[in-house]
Amino acid sequence: MSKTYASFISIGAYVPSKILDNKMLEEMIDTTDEWITKRTGIKERHIANENEYTSDMGAKASQQAIERSGLSTDDIDLVLCATVTPDYFNMPSTACIISDKLGIRDVQAFDISAACSGFVYLLSIAKAFIESGMKKNVLIVGAEKFSSIVDYSDRGTCILFGDGAGAAVISATTDKDKAIIDIHASADGSYSDFLMTPAPGSVNPASQKVLDEGLNFVKMKGNETFKLAVKTLTKDVKNILAHNNIESSDIKHFIPHQANYRIIKAVGDALKLEKEQIVLTVHKFGNTSAASIPMAINDIYELGRLKENELMLLDTFGGGLTWASALVPFAGK
Ligand code: UT7
Repeated sequence: MSKTYASFISIGAYVPSKILDNKMLEEMIDTTDEWITKRTGIKERHIANENEYTSDMGAKASQQAIERSGLSTDDIDLVLCATVTPDYFNMPSTACIISDKLGIRDVQAFDISAACSGFVYLLSIAKAFIESGMKKNVLIVGAEKFSSIVDYSDRGTCILFGDGAGAAVISATTDKDKAIIDIHASADGSYSDFLMTPAPGSVNPASQKVLDEGLNFVKMKGNETFKLAVKTLTKDVKNILAHNNIESSDIKHFIPHQANYRIIKAVGDALKLEKEQIVLTVHKFGNTSAASIPMAINDIYELGRLKENELMLLDTFGGGLTWASALVPFAGK
């Protein structure tokens, strides 16, 4: 019997229409467009409406990914969502709500929490389910309403994050050329205080104290996270290339997590990548956490820059701390 592989057959995304640009932030906090641009590369980010939730954005991105896959919702046999801004913090999962909004019934659905690394983590889960023969067509969604956990008086974080969603369909194939080549995902919980939302949770259940102290907002040790991101990602992408005997010149699209242009440039330089190989959306979307990588893939897809069989190198770093990289040929049309 021929071996079953997992292939990345389609991409979709949703970006909310409302824009928060650097000039608007200048009116809100002690910052400048110049500082934000120079230190992060971000010019603007998109913010969901009050009545627009993580599952709404995730469902819209998913709809597009399913349509582009040539499959129907009936073909999807597993729905996975990566988010740190779920519709509800405990239950139900956002994956369940997305499934319902898409009319996908009676299939397994669950969320994972790996912050910005969530989408690549999902890719590894989808690959394992497919290669084991348990599932055939897995919908993976990275969706975030990050604005719901941002303190817009904290200039160290509020300039960075935006909202949005991206989704992909990962399907079984026997064609080795279309197979996801490798995924490396890892974590180090000893750095959990670098990037966290202290509440709500079993440590700090919802209370007046939580609200008074703003424990429900994202907290980040920005500079420490930055340095560790550059060091870890550089090592990680070099390892995955070496492990698979792939040269950086063989990569058509380097699609990093879009947290900070300076991190992306440092890793790109370490790999000696050409400018054309590096996919950048950080200037227009900011950091959308788990949605960042699929939104970037969708961006080049819609620009007509992503073609069938082209090799993508994904790499990401986020709260946990978590990080991951993946070598993925695009198997869509
Ligand atoms: O997505 C998950 C992973 N996340 C990341 O990878 C994010 C990593 N971190 C970063 O992107 C950067 O650390 C930041 C953009 C958050 C900050 O840049 P930095 O170069 O690390 O600056 P810093 O935190 O060392 O701060 C330098 C100075 C400080 O002032 P003093 O102490 O030197 O007087 C800050 O108070 O810049 C000040 N500062 C600001 N100034 C104007 C911090 N935020 C701002 C701001 N506007 N928004």
